Amino acid sequence: MLQSVKELLSGLEERLEEPTARGLARAVSRGLRDGLLGAGDRLPPIRTVATELGLSPTTVSAAWALLARSGAISTDGRRGTTVATEPGFGSVRYRRALGHNSSFDLDLSTGVPDENLLPDLSRVLRSMTVTATPSSYLEDPVLPELLDVLRRDWPANAAHLTVVDGAMDALDLICRSVLRLGDRVIVESPCFPPLLDLLEALRVDVVGVPVDDEGLRVEPLAAALAGPASRSAVGSTAATVAVFLQPRAQNPTGASLSAGRAAELAELIRGTNALIIEDDSAGAVAASDAISLGLLLADRTVHIRSFSKSHGPDLRLAAISAPPEVMHEITGRRQLGQGWSSRLLQRILLGLLTDPVSIREVAEAREEYARRRALLVGALADRGVTVNGRDGMNIWVPVADEPAAVLRLASQGIGVTAGAPFAALPGQSGFIRVTAGLLADRHAQVADALAVAARAGGWPGVLR
Ligand SMILES: Cc1ncc(COP(=O)(O)O)c(C=O)c1O
Repeated sequence: MLQSVKELLSGLEERLEEPTARGLARAVSRGLRDGLLGAGDRLPPIRTVATELGLSPTTVSAAWALLARSGAISTDGRRGTTVATEPGFGSVRYRRALGHNSSFDLDLSTGVPDENLLPDLSRVLRSMTVTATPSSYLEDPVLPELLDVLRRDWPANAAHLTVVDGAMDALDLICRSVLRLGDRVIVESPCFPPLLDLLEALRVDVVGVPVDDEGLRVEPLAAALAGPASRSAVGSTAATVAVFLQPRAQNPTGASLSAGRAAELAELIRGTNALIIEDDSAGAVAASDAISLGLLLADRTVHIRSFSKSHGPDLRLAAISAPPEVMHEITGRRQLGQGWSSRLLQRILLGLLTDPVSIREVAEAREEYARRRALLVGALADRGVTVNGRDGMNIWVPVADEPAAVLRLASQGIGVTAGAPFAALPGQSGFIRVTAGLLADRHAQVADALAVAARAGGWPGVLR
């Protein structure tokens, strides 16, 4: 913990690798990690830091702005600039989004697959002859037969492919491999709350770009890639390091990239150095075909496919393709930890991906999810509530007042998720996420309740 201003400044000087705002921000962040600074510590005035470290006051102020944007420090007129309290590295939005009441008669808040629509594991398990071997430490991290099967329908360049413990593990590994404090990244808004939690924990600068039915919108993306001209801090000129998107069955909106939109996005991103990170979490249960910007920007696209929704969350498996240098980082980082995903689980997945009965079961699940979604969306349209999006197990229902809608439905025993935790843009509200994929029947009855809840607490022009 901090002893004196002098000690702090010499500590920062030791950690300062380059005399720039970004260099100073990194030095402060290193100091936070190794205990030079702690939550609540006050930073000396800008002029003092500038004089003692031989930097200009503008550089110090830009470093402070960068740290403030990433949430590491905060400035309050009276107390000056202080180190923020730890964000807690919790999945804040995730917990908020899933903070559901398990006593719901009908819980459509979870976003999880219907267990009745997962393929039956027993046949594949019975057919397994290979058991765990002690040589696991020495073998290839991914079963070569599984790599072959994955490559058959991979939508991007699959020269470098690996398998990890689910899409969240993939995102975590990729983010830790390619992002640094204060980096600027673009995400879809709304998007998957745990991604926002992850990015926040890494203290990167997150810029939301709205999505429509075909994915990220082109003009707002172009503006976001160009950078916020109005900001004067150093971060404003920083290039975007990564663009995160869900190529199909976007959670929560159900958007899926069209080929035309994919081409437009690729064209825009081509003019930058940004890496594209695609999270195909619905995988084989998405109604749309697999799609990736990787066919157009092979050396810049990371593509993730999860098997949680299609084959079972407890398999905990996802595959990643990435450009060679990114793959090198990811696998190197992984070797420092668990090294590989259980080959027993990989064998089960391989069985499920090649066994004709399992393939049929997954295809039936895909059709059933599409049927359930269409029935609920259609019933809502009949009741005057328009739901956009076209794929996936969730629907994004516009409501007049989120808390009022969630409460009203809860009082009727129906669980849904408020939209706020999904927002990556300020002021974006007025939706609830409903996991239509869990609703096998009673579509009209549930649509009645949703339509009334959508109007709860608002639309004053109508109510007054
Ligand atoms: C968009 C998105 N990404 C990632 C995940 C997590 O996937 P996994 O279970 O493979 O970690 C989910 C799960 O709902 C998701 O919706």
